[in-house]
Amino acid sequence: MKILVTGANGQLGIALRKIIQESKIADSTIFASREVLDITDADTLARFIADNDITHIVNCAAFTAVDRAEEDKAACTAINSDGVKKLAMAADNYGAKIIHISTDFVFDGLTHRAYSESDKVNPISHYGTSKRAGETALLALAPDSIIIRTSWLYSPDSNKNFPAKILEAARTEKHLKIVDDQIGSPTNADDLARAIVRILTTPQWFPGIYHYCNSGVCSRFDYAKVILRLAGLDSTVNVEPISTAGNFSVTPGAARPPFSALNTSKIRLTYGVETPHWIDSLSKALKK
Ligand SMILES: NC(=O)c1ccc[n+]([C@@H]2O[C@H](COP(=O)([O-])OP(=O)(O)OC[C@H]3O[C@@H](n4cnc5c(N)ncnc54)[C@H](OP(=O)(O)O)[C@@H]3O)[C@@H](O)[C@H]2O)c1
Repeated sequence: MKILVTGANGQLGIALRKIIQESKIADSTIFASREVLDITDADTLARFIADNDITHIVNCAAFTAVDRAEEDKAACTAINSDGVKKLAMAADNYGAKIIHISTDFVFDGLTHRAYSESDKVNPISHYGTSKRAGETALLALAPDSIIIRTSWLYSPDSNKNFPAKILEAARTEKHLKIVDDQIGSPTNADDLARAIVRILTTPQWFPGIYHYCNSGVCSRFDYAKVILRLAGLDSTVNVEPISTAGNFSVTPGAARPPFSALNTSKIRLTYGVETPHWIDSLSKALKK
């Protein structure tokens, strides 16, 4: 097995580097940052896959700035939709299999039960729309692919995520206002990386869409409270629940699904992966 990880300097890419190297699953793995391999460059992609005789690609490359995507729709589409299309064509031509990462933001969040893979998508932001277009292109051009939708991803090795931002804010502010009407499942990138390694090491390949997140659900407000409690800061920092609508007038940005819990039964039953509870995984991450 010769693996290519794209977008290798992002949260999931960094987690995969650690877990793949620990598990020694591949003959070789190339962890390609954007500087080394830009997924919007079709010719370079095709050459890179062939020159390195790649058998499996894990696509972690994405435009993930959800609010910025509303202002720079073209840049977001070029990566999340067109880039994935180019990757699909290059991989399929060479016979390499793809595991692609997508998002809970393909849903509108107007339900009250965890979304399963067959539920109707209806993105409400440009980021969500671009990610759904990437899914559709991939399934059309490389139908043997696996797509994993995840949610509220954070990595213990990155400072560009919700827990890191809460802890950063808590250094200088003693009163935080956090929305309590966005509900979802925080997901530790290390757990997702382990699930991906499990798929790569399973002898049989079952293409299609899967949902993966840590188990349990919470609001952003609950999430912030738990982060502060686990960090021992709950007695010094007060958290006030606010509504998204109220906050939107202060800091406008992309619309977010109010409820985006994901049903993970399919990936657990098909691949036997574990979905630890989000508080256990967060606790491990913060201990680091
Ligand atoms: N973060 C979340 O909360 C979340 C939730 C659900 C799903 N997801 C999905 O999970 C996946 C991994 O997310 P993440 O949090 O690890 O994202 P991330 O930390 O933003 O990493 C994305 C990486 O992709 C790189 N990249 C951007 N454009 C590229 C291009 N044209 N070619 C190659 N690389 C490129 C970025 O490089 P630069 O930094 O240099 O641009 C960055 O290193 C993404 O597909 C994302 O949509 C994320």
